[in-house]
Amino acid sequence: MLILFLVVLAMGLTDAATLEKIAVLHRHGARSPLGVVNGGLVCEYPYCQLTDNGKAMCRSLGLYLQQEYNASSLLSFPSRYNVSFIASEATEYPRVVISAEAMIMGFYEGREPLPFVDFAPKTTDLRLCMWQSWPTWKIRSTYNHELHVDDAWVKALIGEDGLQMIGQYFGIESLCTADPTDCISFVQDFISCNVSSGAPVPSFLMNNWTVYRQVVSRFLGRILGYNRSSHYSTQVGSLGYPYVTSVLQYFSDPSAPLMRMKHSAAHDWTLIAVYSALGIWSVQDAGNERFVPRFAETLILERWQGDDGRQYVKGRWGFPDQAPGNHTYSFQVANLSCIDANGTLYKALDTAGQWCLQDDLERFVNTTAPLSSLGVCYASDNMLQNENCDGDAAPPVGSRCYFYRQHCPQAPCGQTDGAIADPARGLKCQTNQLGKDTPFLVATIVALVSPSLLAGAIGGFYFAAKIKNFLWGSKGTAEENKPIAQ
Ligand SMILES: *[C@@H]1O[C@H](CO)[C@@H](O)[C@H](O)[C@H]1NC(C)=O
Ligand SMILES: *[C@@H]1O[C@H](CO)[C@@H](O)[C@H](O)[C@H]1NC(C)=O
Ligand SMILES: *[C@@H]1O[C@H](CO)[C@@H](O)[C@H](O)[C@H]1NC(C)=O
Ligand SMILES: *[C@@H]1O[C@H](CO)[C@@H](O)[C@H](O)[C@H]1NC(C)=O
Ligand SMILES: *[C@@H]1O[C@H](CO)[C@@H](O)[C@H](O)[C@H]1NC(C)=O
Repeated sequence: MLILFLVVLAMGLTDAATLEKIAVLHRHGARSPLGVVNGGLVCEYPYCQLTDNGKAMCRSLGLYLQQEYNASSLLSFPSRYNVSFIASEATEYPRVVISAEAMIMGFYEGREPLPFVDFAPKTTDLRLCMWQSWPTWKIRSTYNHELHVDDAWVKALIGEDGLQMIGQYFGIESLCTADPTDCISFVQDFISCNVSSGAPVPSFLMNNWTVYRQVVSRFLGRILGYNRSSHYSTQVGSLGYPYVTSVLQYFSDPSAPLMRMKHSAAHDWTLIAVYSALGIWSVQDAGNERFVPRFAETLILERWQGDDGRQYVKGRWGFPDQAPGNHTYSFQVANLSCIDANGTLYKALDTAGQWCLQDDLERFVNTTAPLSSLGVCYASDNMLQNENCDGDAAPPVGSRCYFYRQHCPQAPCGQTDGAIADPARGLKCQTNQLGKDTPFLVATIVALVSPSLLAGAIGGFYFAAKIKNFLWGSKGTAEENKPIAQ
């Protein structure tokens, strides 16, 4: 009897699904509101700074993850902080780096870890910071391109009087008249900041918070959501594709067997892009206020070995209590979209395990891959024209065209067939024939480093950029003007 029991128990144990790894992606914690400076919005120091409540939210996430995964023995982490087990990264924003550190502090509560958080420069961070790094986003002016699409709808929803009242209250009348979507995004964000710090919010604003959130949800969907019926969207692929692909690679990577948690801190914008690549968000969700990520909102992707020996992925998403206090998290299982080997789409929540085979998830994610071979460098003639980027001339330093040519040396350049952007001549488009015209730097590098002119030009750009940075420091570039609510 006892032996039978032990055998059954042993079978039960070996047969049970086991959790192997997780990937955790979260928004930074609560921060102070944007500032209004000369009637415009500013999200730089001294505005938009992570608050103590914001740190506490991320610490609460760390405590939750330790309880949920380690204390429960689903995944074991040594008691001392050890980067062989957790890899943390953030975007190049102080509030995000500190949020990631706070999460690690919470995970190792009482053991005073010295957190290590990696980050890449914004302009090269293709996975977490697409609006600063994707050349196609810059050349298309995606933010400005979408900002006015819903003007009439926003005006009808909020009312001209409502917009005027908000404008007066915050001293941003002209913004609320000219850019109603920005105006409402600002208010929505301001309310969430005050709620997170326990500060009062006048009832005429609080009563409309949900409506404001609908406006923001629609706008976020426009700038970050993957839209299968948009030619542009399918050419560049979903903005979350690079991140999700990197997670799936990590899940399948046998070369770092100790690594159990890949941890990334980022922005609300990042979350929408990633939800979209996973099919948690789809076009119908534009306007659904659930898709305006809260402070410290988190997506956890779990990789399981099923009792059938196959690999599954389960998603969970949630956010902490926003008001000051203990910031308790509540999570739900995410309705991931997946495609089986026969090509049939299904949803994770419609399966018994509430998960998908990893291959099936990957098959869905693959449907959001860029169709254009230029990918993040994709640009239509219109986009190039609108940014004066269709001629041969050298673009102004700091312009969108400059950024585009700098980061897309393989993209078509100017009017001349087969021309390349010459880094030694301010990214002027030059024919790719080597002539006496060819700048010395490029010519030297071509001669020394590479038999291929294109690769030589890229090398030339690399050195030219280094030298420029060395001589002048890296100059601020004209950026996407209003990075609201990230
Ligand atoms: C994980 O759990 C084990 C066993 O309970 C414990 O010894 C260890 O300290 C925990 N690790 C962390 C990071 O808390
Ligand atoms: C981290 O864990 C690995 C594997 O157990 C171990 O070899 C290494 O010494 C640990 N590092 C630290 C700093 O404790
Ligand atoms: C937010 O709180 C501050 C500080 O209490 C207050 O001055 C401000 O009016 C509040 N703003 C909004 C939009 O609720
Ligand atoms: C998951 O998504 C499918 C398709 O959109 C939907 O029919 C189903 O109700 C969703 N499940 C849950 C529990 O939300
Ligand atoms: C997804 O795409 C990648 C590369 O494009 C490919 O290697 C992989 O096999 C695809 N995955 C599935 C499940 O089709």
